[in-house]
Amino acid sequence: MEKTAKRWPLLLAIVVALSAIWAGFAAGENLAEDWQLAARWTARAGLPIFLLVYSASTLVRLLPSKSTKALLRDRRWWGLGFAASHTIHLYALTMVFVVGPDSRSPVSLIPGGLAYAMIYVMAVTSNAYSMRKLGRSWKRLHTLGMHYIWLVYTASYAGRIFQPEKQVEGLVGTSLLVAAFILRIAVRWPRHRTVRV
Ligand code: HEM
Repeated sequence: MEKTAKRWPLLLAIVVALSAIWAGFAAGENLAEDWQLAARWTARAGLPIFLLVYSASTLVRLLPSKSTKALLRDRRWWGLGFAASHTIHLYALTMVFVVGPDSRSPVSLIPGGLAYAMIYVMAVTSNAYSMRKLGRSWKRLHTLGMHYIWLVYTASYAGRIFQPEKQVEGLVGTSLLVAAFILRIAVRWPRHRTVRV
């Protein structure tokens, strides 16, 4: 199964995130702005990848087809792609701190730092060996991690709704994330009702 898995999503995610860095440098007017935009756009580039991983099982239930089944089958590689693209976000945001003044308090780094811990725990356990070793805890760990990352993403975009210059991104990002959450619950809901009847 491992041999047939398609690894291209990992490569695609890396190329997209590196393009976001390049775009930041093309648009910025000084080094501090270059990295600020690179940080913003690498996070943005990771959103569609995250949404694909988060919604793979929802999409296959909602629209069973060759492509949704392939997405579910290769979800591990999309997940690793997300981890790689967010590592590039981590590099860009580190450069924001290195090259320019940033007023962020250390406490404000805790939720994002925990999200990174989750991302890397999920990445290193994304293999058949860890699945076997962890048993039922594997699914709990990955469901919890996925929802924690969802929460950090949603909080980041929801906070932008109240900043006039970032309102559009805030509204689009929050709507996509909330829609993905609602769909995830909705496609599982009838099954629970059937069980109870
Ligand atoms: C301690 C860890 C983190 C720090 C210090 C950090 C820092 C930053 C910085 C400097 C920006 C650019 C801000 C701007 O110009 O608007 C940014 C953007 C963003 N980050 Fe991170 N980040 C962290 C982790 C994360 C994580 C784990 C996620 C998601 C799970 C995330 C999601 C976002 C989003 C959604 C944006 C805005 C993208 C947009 O405007 O479309 N960040 N972050």
